[in-house]
Amino acid sequence: MNISIQNLSKVYNNNFQALHKVSLDIETGMFGLLGPNGAGKSTLMKILVTLLQPSGGKVLVNGVDLSKSRKEVRSILGYLPQDFRFFAKLKTYEFLDYAASLAGIKSRRERRNEIEKMLEKVGLFEVRNRYASKLSGGMKRRLGIAQAIIGEPKLVVVDEPTTGLDPEERIRFRNILADLSQKDVIIILSTHIVGDISSTCNQMALLNQGEIGFHGNPDEFINLSRGKVWKTEVGFDQMQEFNQKYPVISTIPVANGYEVELISPHNSDFKGVQIEPNLEHAYVYFMEYESSKIPQ
Ligand SMILES: Nc1ncnc2c1ncn2[C@@H]1O[C@H](COP(=O)(O)OP(=O)(O)O)[C@@H](O)[C@H]1O
Ligand SMILES: [Mg+2]
Repeated sequence: MNISIQNLSKVYNNNFQALHKVSLDIETGMFGLLGPNGAGKSTLMKILVTLLQPSGGKVLVNGVDLSKSRKEVRSILGYLPQDFRFFAKLKTYEFLDYAASLAGIKSRRERRNEIEKMLEKVGLFEVRNRYASKLSGGMKRRLGIAQAIIGEPKLVVVDEPTTGLDPEERIRFRNILADLSQKDVIIILSTHIVGDISSTCNQMALLNQGEIGFHGNPDEFINLSRGKVWKTEVGFDQMQEFNQKYPVISTIPVANGYEVELISPHNSDFKGVQIEPNLEHAYVYFMEYESSKIPQ
C-alpha cells in the first residue's frame, strides 16, 4: 500500500484555508498525524476517506487518483470519525453485523465468524448483547475501532481515537492498531496527544495551521530537539522569569526553588545539563522554536 498526497489544499466555503499545499508520502504501516486542535487533521482525513473534496492538489492511492477511484477506495477503507456515533437502537453485536455488511461481507456465516473474532479482539464479547448506547466510554471507542477494522480494510483512518480515554484504554487501543499494522495495511491515526505517537508509528507528520512542519519517523523528530532540552535549578524568585522566557516542561520543588526541565536552543542564561529528549520535548521545541520560522 502507498498513498501519495500532492499539494493538497482545502478552502472552506467561508474562505478559510484549512490546508495549504500538503504533500506527504505514506507507506505500509502506522502513520501518526500529530497536531494541535484546529491544525487541519480532520479536514485531511475527510479528504482521504472521500467525504470531502479538496480545493487543489491530489491524492494517489497505489498510484490511482482518489477523485477517479472513490468507489474502489471506499471498498478498501475503514474509518473512525472523530465524532463517531452509532444507532442507539442497535446492540453491540448488531452494530458490528451492520458494519460487516457495509464492509462487503455478504455471507451470514462469514459475518458471524468475523464478528466473534472481532468482539474477542477488542474485548467486547461479554457485552455483545448490550445496547451500544449503554456501553462505557472506552467500550464505545472500542466498538468504533471494531467497526472500522472489520472486513480487513487495507486503509484504516482513525481520527483522534483516544481523546477522553484513560491510560489503560489508550494502551489497549494502541495495541489493537499495532496488531493490525503487521499486515499490508496503512493505518493513519490523527491525534493532538503526543503520547499516542510512539514506537508503534513507523512514520509521522506534524501538521500545524494547515501546513506540514515535519515528516519522517518519530526518532528523527525527537532528534530535532537534541541538545536543546535542559535540566536546571531555578530559585523561587527567578521562576516567573523562567516561565516567561522558556517553555518549561516540568517543575519539581526542591530545597531552594525548583528543578525544571526546559527547552532552549542554548544555555547562556543558566547553568544546566542537557537531557535526553523525548517526543513531548520535541513537540514543544517544534511548536515554540521551529513553527514560528514559517514565513509570514
Ligand atoms: N466546515 C467548515 N467550514 C469552515 N471552517 C472549517 C470547517 N471545518 C473545519 N473548519 C476550520 O478548519 C480548521 C481545521 O479544522 P479541523 O480539520 O477540524 O482541525 P483538527 O482536526 O486538526 O482540529 C479549523 O480552524 C476549523 O475551524
Ligand atoms: Mg479533528
